[in-house]
Amino acid sequence: MNVLLIGGGGREHALAWKISQSPQLEKFFAVPGSPGIKNFAECVENISIGDNAALVNFAKEKNIDLVIVGPEAPLVNGLTDSLNAAGIKSFGPTKIAAQIEGSKIFAKRLMKKYKIPTADFEVFENLDDAKNYIRRKGAPIVIKADGLAAGKGVIVAQNLDEALNAVDEMKNFGAAGNKIVVEEFMDGEEASVLALTDGEKILPLIAAQDHKRVDDGDEGLNTGGMGAYAPAPLVDSKISAQIEEKILKPTIAALKAEGIIYRGCLYAGLMIQNGEPKVVEFNCRFGDPETQVVLPLLENDLLELMNACAEGNLSAEKLSWSKNSAVCVILASGGYPKSYKKNLPIDGITKAKSLGAMIFHAGTKFSAGELVTSGGRVLGVTTTAPTLREAVDKVYRCVEVIHFDNMHYRRDIAARALK
Ligand code: AMP
Ligand code: GLY
Repeated sequence: MNVLLIGGGGREHALAWKISQSPQLEKFFAVPGSPGIKNFAECVENISIGDNAALVNFAKEKNIDLVIVGPEAPLVNGLTDSLNAAGIKSFGPTKIAAQIEGSKIFAKRLMKKYKIPTADFEVFENLDDAKNYIRRKGAPIVIKADGLAAGKGVIVAQNLDEALNAVDEMKNFGAAGNKIVVEEFMDGEEASVLALTDGEKILPLIAAQDHKRVDDGDEGLNTGGMGAYAPAPLVDSKISAQIEEKILKPTIAALKAEGIIYRGCLYAGLMIQNGEPKVVEFNCRFGDPETQVVLPLLENDLLELMNACAEGNLSAEKLSWSKNSAVCVILASGGYPKSYKKNLPIDGITKAKSLGAMIFHAGTKFSAGELVTSGGRVLGVTTTAPTLREAVDKVYRCVEVIHFDNMHYRRDIAARALK
């Protein structure tokens, strides 16, 4: 199979690493790819991932059998629709199906209509109406911009002032903030479950836990994710079964009932409250950094599974998992998720690998032959070990040998599960 991977973050590096192990893989390309993905695929940097026509042409020219779309933006932008129209198979939902992430209002209304457990909510276009509603409901309360906002369009307000200010701040998210969702605050612990689906059958992957806040102890601003581990012991077999029966299967069925066949990865962000899972959000793609801990434990051929999703013939056979635990610590640029410096030289990757780390590049580039930082999240360092404790100790031994100026990382990844 000739494969084209879209994206260049840590998630796509992990996908490329796993796909490269498939005996079915022939030629492998990535747009734009990254210094990490270069080890597995030919990276093409002169095509924009927002240019559907150029990507279709490239896929035709290279006789691509399957296009795998990593990030949400090209999915919400209809890339798979363009590919499918040109007769090219793709892994990832269509534009309308990607609304499950692209529009919080679409997702919330779907859940409400089909009784999928989630927080109560109201939708507002008028800011004063939103504020009056918030005054009636009181805090804590959660305010969300409707559209894509790179994980930053959500404010969990602890008091009334914060909540009212949050409504005004929604303007900062551009078009995404024209409509807002105000929803009930859910207390509990979060988990992420990624599931492969062909629009009919669904294969949930093992549960992971992300760490969204930038600083230890879940303090500071929300980020794309500062680290993850899997499996998450919080999601035991009983909760897993509930997630599958009450959330994942009903959601795929609800979409189908609305005339939408969802193919690809459905990411359920969950709040586990007194042993009951509720949906915090859906994403239309693999999680980042959840992918960097889930895929190292998957023993199946991922390319074969993805192709089956694209073809609509995913078999219900059980996935096979390593008994190990995996942990990923994100090394970020100091200042992220606000402004930060770029082009800082990165040292120690070879040493970290020799200590047993897998290194996933999230925001790096080569500059005059030297590897330098080029994004907010720079590297993901993943280790696996027979126990979570060992995996955590190992990951921090590896992290300590890596250096770039202003490097920031959380020192408490997986700490909650170890308590
Ligand atoms: P989202 O982008 O919708 O996942 O929201 C980002 C983060 O905000 C989530 O991972 C949660 O930590 C938090 N959050 C979102 N909605 C709620 C809610 N209704 N109750 C509590 N926390 C929430
Ligand atoms: N780790 C959160 C996300 O991928 O959206």
